[in-house]
Amino acid sequence: MRHLLVTGGAGFIGSNFVRHLVEHTDVRVTVLDKLTYAASRESLADLPTDRVELVVGDIADAAVVDPLVGTVDAVVHFAAESHNDNSLADPSPFVQTNVVGTFTLLEAARRHGTRFHHVSTDEVYGDLELDDPGRFTEATPYNPSSPYSATKAGSDLLVRAWARSFGLQATISNCSNNYGPWQHVEKFIPRQITNLLDGGRVKLYGAGANVRDWIHADDHSSAVWTILQRGRIGETYLVGADGERSNLEVVRQVLRLLGHDEDDFDHVTDRAGHDLRYAIDSTKLRTELGWQPTYGTFEDGLAKTVEWYRDHADWWRPHKQAVEAAYAARGQ
Ligand code: NAD
Ligand code: DAU
Repeated sequence: MRHLLVTGGAGFIGSNFVRHLVEHTDVRVTVLDKLTYAASRESLADLPTDRVELVVGDIADAAVVDPLVGTVDAVVHFAAESHNDNSLADPSPFVQTNVVGTFTLLEAARRHGTRFHHVSTDEVYGDLELDDPGRFTEATPYNPSSPYSATKAGSDLLVRAWARSFGLQATISNCSNNYGPWQHVEKFIPRQITNLLDGGRVKLYGAGANVRDWIHADDHSSAVWTILQRGRIGETYLVGADGERSNLEVVRQVLRLLGHDEDDFDHVTDRAGHDLRYAIDSTKLRTELGWQPTYGTFEDGLAKTVEWYRDHADWWRPHKQAVEAAYAARGQ
């Protein structure tokens, strides 16, 4: 593969993947991104312009998508509306981008016979009980809870149908919760770090017993590249790094890292339909394709992430006030 189209490449994980390609491969990248509130040109700014080109456009616009898909060896599809809380406030852009946008890309890939990798989430499987010894596998039935996860589930099923009915050369990955640099301040970990850096307080939904399975975005990127190179066409791969932590544990760790008492946080209104626990069994990806997470421990990664947000206040501070005002209006 010499030239990839990366949708959503100006977002948190998409930009990490583009950086991964620049640092570890010779691939040329065209990013297609609508530059929504969640995007950041800065995340791509230091990358070589002879390797990375940004096209500003909508994945649901066939006139933009079709010619781009026709010029590349593969599409790697990250673009999405990605935040559960926003999908509860207004599901409409989630249906448009995640379902109609994915459909538009699939039709272009079908017309041009282009290899397609779809980036998805473990949330399509719903949630697990806190005391369930099991984890999600590729065989777990779909059972999404939120408008966001329902639209991601819908997009996954479109990809599967295009692969089976039209012979599209497709793979899918479903990853657990990512953390690392360039994540928008609306998300859990950056929100708490930047609240403390701004002199505010940490906000925990409900009792904080909910569990998420954390993976550094660098490890997600290496997994996607592994699947693109060696994944079996038509297959789904779960991506995870055995990083289960309760939200309460994460909040206490962030408080300690920033020199606060670990009980110095607020319990706020819980998320409607809040999924209890996500946990990924990534055995298939590890045994079939030889992938391993290499980033290091969550505790070490969280400390580095805190330092990154401390050093990049000019980037996140302009977004902070509007995000916190929206949360405050919902009692969160
Ligand atoms: P993000 O919200 O940070 O970035 C999304 C990017 O998509 C932004 O740059 C945005 O401008 C772009 N975009 C949105 N609508 C678009 C449209 N209509 N046309 C073109 N571009 C558009 O999201 P993220 O956290 O980086 O997630 C990227 C992908 O990974 C998503 O598909 C998400 O479902 C999936 N995923 C995320 C996580 C996670 O923990 N964040 C975990 C597993 C899977
Ligand atoms: O599992 C993968 C998914 O992880 C991705 O598909 C989504 O795109 C991504 O946003 C993420 O979804 P979550 O809903 O798990 O992430 P979020 O950062 O919104 O919240 C993580 C947990 O923290 C969740 O249990 C809700 C809780 N939370 C969140 C916020 C913003 C709080 O307790 N307080 C908060 O202020």
